[in-house]
Amino acid sequence: MDKTIRDHRRCRRLAVSLGCAMAAGAASAVNMAPHLETHDGRTALFVDGAPFLVLGGQANNSSNYPAVLPRVWPALDDMHANTLEIPVAWEQIEPTEGHFDFGYVDTLVTQAREHGKRLVLLWFGTWKNTSPSYAPEWVKLDNRRFPRMVDRDGKPSYCLSPFGEQTLAADRKAFVALMTHLAQIDGDRHTVIMMQVENEVGTYGLVRDFGAKAQAAFDRPVPAEVLARQTAPVKRASHGSWREVYGDYADEYFHAWAIASYIEQVASAGRKALDLPMYVNNALRDAVEPLAPWHANFASGGPTYDVIGIYKAAAPHIDIVGPDLYNPASAQIDATLDRFQRPDNPLWVPEMSQAPGYGRIVYDVLGRGSLGIAPFGIDYTGYSNFPLGARESAGPQLVQPFAAAYAVFGSMNSLWAGWALEGRTHGVAEGDDRKERTIALGRWTATVSFQEWQFGDKSWPDHTTEVPPGTEMPSGGVAVAQIGPDEFVITGQHARVRIAPAQAMSPEHGAMFARVEEGRFDPAGHWVMERNWNGDQTDYGLNLTGTPVILKVRMGRW
Ligand code: DGJ
Repeated sequence: MDKTIRDHRRCRRLAVSLGCAMAAGAASAVNMAPHLETHDGRTALFVDGAPFLVLGGQANNSSNYPAVLPRVWPALDDMHANTLEIPVAWEQIEPTEGHFDFGYVDTLVTQAREHGKRLVLLWFGTWKNTSPSYAPEWVKLDNRRFPRMVDRDGKPSYCLSPFGEQTLAADRKAFVALMTHLAQIDGDRHTVIMMQVENEVGTYGLVRDFGAKAQAAFDRPVPAEVLARQTAPVKRASHGSWREVYGDYADEYFHAWAIASYIEQVASAGRKALDLPMYVNNALRDAVEPLAPWHANFASGGPTYDVIGIYKAAAPHIDIVGPDLYNPASAQIDATLDRFQRPDNPLWVPEMSQAPGYGRIVYDVLGRGSLGIAPFGIDYTGYSNFPLGARESAGPQLVQPFAAAYAVFGSMNSLWAGWALEGRTHGVAEGDDRKERTIALGRWTATVSFQEWQFGDKSWPDHTTEVPPGTEMPSGGVAVAQIGPDEFVITGQHARVRIAPAQAMSPEHGAMFARVEEGRFDPAGHWVMERNWNGDQTDYGLNLTGTPVILKVRMGRW
């Protein structure tokens, strides 16, 4: 067998099974381009040959200029983030048609390396939050060459049509130029690890394009690949026109197909120049209310949970459809994560509010095995998207809700991503109902409760009714990796974890903590024990405070 492949396989086995980040970083693996690997329906992002957990922060929308970057890096550092998500705008790289300027991209990549960060670049092209605002003026103001969608009466919408052939050709050309440039400056360095193609696509206020080209396509039969991936919410004809197959959902589904097909053209051409993992992000539709046809309640045609199948069929060069989490209701977050994590769609949260209550969601998302997570608005430019995000817009306060969790996950980055790939990780976040959550761990069950002091039990008649500082609002989260039948790596905040046998034991037997070590993983992935928790520290479960630690726990039976 070729030595490079053999070395890579060995490294990967080590990285995944032993979590040996050092081994995975061995010379041959370092040369591998960032890519996704899927095993048994679970996926990990590999960077330099090792599983990589993206602990990201997304800069504000207008921070994509060299003059602003000095106010971006300190926020990422304070957050302990390993990756910056930042826009590359079409208007800035091709202000005049055919003349490209990659000065910003060069500065960005150079500075990212200096600051020890990876990059996820956000291609703000034809659509940014559905609008052409980031397209160059020669595009966004020329309706004739770059047509807008039109309604049933022929009235133009603000949104560019996915049937604009010249729009697609121009966007694709600019994106290919960007990817070609990245291949030249970063093809062997892997500073850029993923690309987002467009941003929160879809259309507000209009369900689809009713222009002549769009209408002709709407009346044609639904493509076979769409039929194979996207079932109709209400069963109708198994094939035929969009209306015949998808009934009242036809307009939304058709628009999703049109936009996804457009994105596919951009992504596939870009990947020929530099083959990086690519994804789209989504401004969500309500994940809890019963599914119903579009009624102007979300951006039609965007990759909402109900049309993931269409995006898979029409855009095979898009690896992931990722949810942007901005609705703080825990039922929405739970349902959204459930709907977006599928065997054909790895979990990846490319955007999330940076408001303080979202800190706990990191444990849930990473515990579910996400490729990573990236709160939005992470820089010190002084902009705050409150009330969607944090009121605080400057200084370490902004990143405080995430910094400690990121430090903990950062210290076991490749290990955690490897465990996630093996299906060993679990996560929960405190719900708005403040109720206990359980995690099934083979022959054990972990029960996670919230608003607990470190000592004593709420059931005691004389127990205080005060709640611990920092738990006034839902703030708890726990992530567990099961590394052996009775062994767990646990981290979290503002939560109590108790572990008990999943099946009742006979009265003459019992279970208890055999060992609860607090410690850390060294850079080679070896556990370094710092102390053993016992007595008060374990008598009332494992009580995790606002300062997360890593526990290596072994359960025993007697
Ligand atoms: C989601 C978008 O993707 C971001 O670019 C930004 O506009 C936020 N919404 C709001 O701050």
